[in-house]
Amino acid sequence: MDKNVLNGLFRPKSIAVIGASTQPGKIGYTVVENLIKSKYEGKIYPINPTASEILGLKVYPTISDVPDSVEAAVVTVPAKFVAQVAEESGKKGVKGFIVITSGFSESGRRDMEDEIVQIGKRYGMRILGPNIVGTLSNADKMNASFAPFLPLPGKASLVSQSGALLIAMDASTYTRRVGFDKLVSIGNMSDVNFADAIEWLNEDPSTSCISLYIEGFKDGRQFIEVSRKATKPIIALKSGVSAHGAAAAASHTGSLAGAAKVYGAAFQQAGVVQASDLDNLFDRTLALSLQPPMTGENILIITNGGGVGVLATDAAERYNIPLKFAPAEVQEELKKHMPEFGSAKNPVDITGMAGTEWYHDTIKYAFAHPWVDALVVLYCETAMTDPSEIARGIKSAVDESGVKDKPVSVSFVGGDKSDKAMKWLVENGIPAYGAPDVAVNVMAALRDYARMRAEAAEPIEPCASENRQLALDIINRARTDGRDALTEVEAKEVFAAYGLPVTKTHLAKTEAEAIQLANQVGYPVVMKIVSPDILHKSDAGGVKVNIKDDKAAGEAFSTIMENARKYKADANIHGIAIQEMAPWGTEVILGSVNDPTFGPTMMFGLGGIFVEVLKDVTFRVAPVTSTQAAQMLSEIRGAPIIAGVRGEAPRDRKELANTICRYSNMILDLSDEISESDANPVLVYEEGKGVKVVDARIILKKK
Ligand code: COA
Repeated sequence: MDKNVLNGLFRPKSIAVIGASTQPGKIGYTVVENLIKSKYEGKIYPINPTASEILGLKVYPTISDVPDSVEAAVVTVPAKFVAQVAEESGKKGVKGFIVITSGFSESGRRDMEDEIVQIGKRYGMRILGPNIVGTLSNADKMNASFAPFLPLPGKASLVSQSGALLIAMDASTYTRRVGFDKLVSIGNMSDVNFADAIEWLNEDPSTSCISLYIEGFKDGRQFIEVSRKATKPIIALKSGVSAHGAAAAASHTGSLAGAAKVYGAAFQQAGVVQASDLDNLFDRTLALSLQPPMTGENILIITNGGGVGVLATDAAERYNIPLKFAPAEVQEELKKHMPEFGSAKNPVDITGMAGTEWYHDTIKYAFAHPWVDALVVLYCETAMTDPSEIARGIKSAVDESGVKDKPVSVSFVGGDKSDKAMKWLVENGIPAYGAPDVAVNVMAALRDYARMRAEAAEPIEPCASENRQLALDIINRARTDGRDALTEVEAKEVFAAYGLPVTKTHLAKTEAEAIQLANQVGYPVVMKIVSPDILHKSDAGGVKVNIKDDKAAGEAFSTIMENARKYKADANIHGIAIQEMAPWGTEVILGSVNDPTFGPTMMFGLGGIFVEVLKDVTFRVAPVTSTQAAQMLSEIRGAPIIAGVRGEAPRDRKELANTICRYSNMILDLSDEISESDANPVLVYEEGKGVKVVDARIILKKK
């Protein structure tokens, strides 16, 4: 990406407002007024065919009439004129074309949007929008939008897909006291998308944290790639996570791949912290923009009240933060700064008698101690203490500790005085909140961020298989047959081509062949009908298990054939699969979907009832690294079953994780071919004894 071109959108030195109006109340008037009111120091050129002056500025009939060069154009003319002014702007050498106008792809006119993108490409002009509010920057004193004013100054920058929400958030930066440098309305993303904005903001010296409000996008893989490389924290609120492409699913995995799970997985792989709602987006943005990430596990909570301490402890459990007691020598030292009835455990309760000095001394000591990775400081307003004094004590203790690489968050519970004290803390770089829960929640964000950063740095493993052609031959044969689903035998052959441990399975067309293959596989065997017209094999009487000898194999062959014909007289029967009978193990399911946003995506969960009823599954966008595969095993609710419960030996997690990695490589390598797939069940044996894919299903992409 040419950064200078995007500078034309986000930090232009001159702006033409095309469609500037003389009439107050019109968007074309407001944008000119906002640029002036925000004290924009660059040149402003209002463009209007009939007016001569707007708000004291000389007006030009077209952008071509402007005597100097122009870096950005903010467009507020009706949609039908946008292509024409894009052409003129391109010719003029405009770098950033900011289209406020609505009436494009969001209302069925993608053609009009494509036309301006084409014009932009021809002239090397980048397009923001259309259908946006504009863009705002405190660093450049630039309100190039119809949002009322620049946001409360701060170090975060927000990119929002919703314009209305951006305007609302702009105003609430003041009431919530969360400061932003830039607000970027990204709208229809006809050209500049989230990935472009993230890449640019990551280099922007006035931005320390990138906040995103996302409704949905197409460029999922580009988003992951760019976010993984970003060196600043990124936090995302994704809305619209209810129904997502799962409706027409042909596999188990397809029906379970909701947007919440797939986006959640992608954010994790991209190193992007998630926000649960708008409040949480603001709260977490504040902490991520002011504090360093939390490396390590040990949070120490310091409080003057038992109640808020318990609330924080509950929150720690909710956000999966283990609260350990500090080592004895730390507790002894802390005890020196509290009365006899205080507690040096965790939370450290310096009691309601605590004044500024006790806060100061405990914080200064604890923050500098190597055992402590992060501090949460809580305060309940008391009659004997002044919240502002306490706030100053906290700040000076943090400064005097000399620690710069650990985070601290604060919660003051009280009235106006506490509120004022928290305002002061935030202005001095310490995130402070009215609820202890939130002070802990933001710490979880700082910890997750540090963890995800480390994982995002992990190299991605190679994915091609030397047996790719073999898999393609099987797939092409099915396509030639006019099928878009592989049979179990075919699906297993494709799996095997990518090193997945499938049960030995062969296709028998005659009784004699069945007996011969059963001997080859080795008794006992399982026999199953293979027919693209019989999906529910057991219901059709098409499965026989534990067949122990030639006689039973012969009988099973005829019975299954008979049952199948009874079930569906005109079924196209390929034959009967003779399959190794795998010893029983823990049932899990692996599967994949080709997600509309992120492409090939893996699912893992416990099989049987767990997947049917509890939907206890987890996702990752392919390719899945070994660390990610191990995480998948531990993040489902049923994880203890894999780890070994009630005296049961642990399952072979290593081989299961390897299988997930190989499976993910397969779906990536065959992403043009495979639409959905399941390996269900996969049996997992004791440690060292491996796994076996017992049944397999592959649905092909329609071509
Ligand atoms: N070059 C320069 N100026 C032009 C022009 C051209 N080719 N064609 C028209 N204009 C001028 C008009 O003369 C008018 O100025 P005037 O008021 O002084 O006469 C001005 O541009 C605006 O045109 P107008 O026809 O009055 O449109 P409008 O102001 O009613 O609406 C938009 C224009 C862009 C605001 C409207 O079409 C729109 O898209 N609104 C929705 C915006 C929005 O909500 N965005 C997304 C937020 S999430």
